[in-house]
Amino acid sequence: MEKRIALVTGANRGIGKEVVKQLAELGYIVFLGSRDLEKGEEAVKKLIPQDNIFCIALDVTNEESINKAKNIIENKFGQLDVLVNNAGILYDSWHDVSNADLKTVREAMDTNTYGPLRVTQAMLPLLLKSTRGRIVNVSSEAGSLASMKAAPPAYNLSKVALNGLTRMFADLLRPKDILVNSVCPGWTHTDMGGGGRPIPEGAKSVVWAVTIHDDGPTGGFFRDGKKLEW
Ligand SMILES: NC(=O)c1ccc[n+]([C@@H]2O[C@H](COP(=O)([O-])OP(=O)(O)OC[C@H]3O[C@@H](n4cnc5c(N)ncnc54)[C@H](OP(=O)(O)O)[C@@H]3O)[C@@H](O)[C@H]2O)c1
Repeated sequence: MEKRIALVTGANRGIGKEVVKQLAELGYIVFLGSRDLEKGEEAVKKLIPQDNIFCIALDVTNEESINKAKNIIENKFGQLDVLVNNAGILYDSWHDVSNADLKTVREAMDTNTYGPLRVTQAMLPLLLKSTRGRIVNVSSEAGSLASMKAAPPAYNLSKVALNGLTRMFADLLRPKDILVNSVCPGWTHTDMGGGGRPIPEGAKSVVWAVTIHDDGPTGGFFRDGKKLEW
């Protein structure tokens, strides 16, 4: 396989960390994004193989941090083939839409929606240098309008808008052969999930969208390789 360069945000724990592991095992060179460099380096130490995993400081709410990360990737490899927008916060199940706290809504949007927007915009020049680019937005069925629930409000709204970004970037990048999809990992036993299926299964759902063929889908919403309703 030709060497492919991937970046995963929010990858010092949970689904992101496992996506890094699975991609590294497939032979990708992977940047493990962590807003706290020390936590990221600890995570890298626990991952095997380690020689094709690089820890990179990346806070998706901070443009300076994102630009520094972009410069590091550019200086080292000159391009990026895969961007996995995984970092996510605030499953605000203690509220519903009638009492949603706007401060919480803004916080969720800042990380879960504007984060991927900032990171994708910054990485775009590097992704455009790839001949077979992939962008995977780690969303959730919680963001599906078809099955929308009253709660958790901030989280749901942030994932609806993230799915909107998937559609917009897919439209923009279709002529450039960059495939852009939203993926739901399913209810997964991470700190956020607090229960659910094993982390490797949730991560596999994400890795599927990274490894789809060049004639694969773009602008879609999937879990375990199967279509979800918007
Ligand atoms: N678990 C589920 O059941 C489930 C279901 C559907 C969708 N998802 C989605 O899957 C993705 C991963 O979730 P998870 O379950 O693995 O969550 P998690 O275990 O809580 O991990 C979240 C990760 O995001 C990072 N993060 C938070 N804010 C960040 C920021 N500003 N910049 C960079 N990184 C940041 C965290 O870093 P720190 O350690 O520094 O906090 C952590 O590494 C999320 O987008 C989530 O919405 C999860």
